[in-house]
Amino acid sequence: MEIIHLSEVDSTNEYAKKLVEEKKKNFVVLADKQSCGKGRWGRVWYSDEGGLYFSIVIDPKEYNPKVVNLLVPICIVETLKKYVDKDIEIGIKFPNDIVVKVNKNYKKIGGILVELTDKYMVIGVGIDVNNPIRKEIREIAVSLKEIVGGDVDRLKIFSDFLQTFENYLKKLANNEIDEYEILKKYKKYSITLGKYVKILLSNNKIVSGKVYDIDFDGIIIGTENGLEKIPSGICIQVR
Ligand code: BTN
Repeated sequence: MEIIHLSEVDSTNEYAKKLVEEKKKNFVVLADKQSCGKGRWGRVWYSDEGGLYFSIVIDPKEYNPKVVNLLVPICIVETLKKYVDKDIEIGIKFPNDIVVKVNKNYKKIGGILVELTDKYMVIGVGIDVNNPIRKEIREIAVSLKEIVGGDVDRLKIFSDFLQTFENYLKKLANNEIDEYEILKKYKKYSITLGKYVKILLSNNKIVSGKVYDIDFDGIIIGTENGLEKIPSGICIQVR
């Protein structure tokens, strides 16, 4: 996959979409910092120097976006696990926050913003590596540097991630693994499965109950009214 490395950009997702309009295919945009990093649901993604900010562009006709949606957090977890002690828990909080357990609490270390149309799938990934965590989010976010106690080679993490991701894609294309193995791995790394949760939905409704299952479309909650399926696309926050 071609890598376009920029020192600064507004948002790698926005830059990637512009290149798609110019008919570019299968590439990654990597930036050292972003002046207008975007999070899910219109939130800001602080993108100071030292963090990893990149967007992968793939053709949704070539790979099933529902599977890729699960695959990306899996690859981030498998990559980051290589850099931390074995006893540090890194997992996926539904739908695709990457979290680390710090003093009994989970803190966010990475996030994913997918923008999908019938023409492109732009997968934006932000990982707090060596960047300082801003005061406003220190309660809920952590960097890899804080976890390991020193600077980490962020470009090495990027290339490890990309290699892991491309390997899985190749195996999927060659039928060496199937989509259900990806789902199984996602569930293995999920910190949400089996827990009691409160989910804030995009219509401001809150659904609470025990998480019975997760599949390619969303999460299945046992509520007081029976089982309810929440599509990942309408879930704003899980508590
Ligand atoms: C989230 O809210 O958890 C998703 C955060 C995604 C941030 C990444 S950083 C690279 C890419 N470019 C953006 O503007 N956002 C994504």
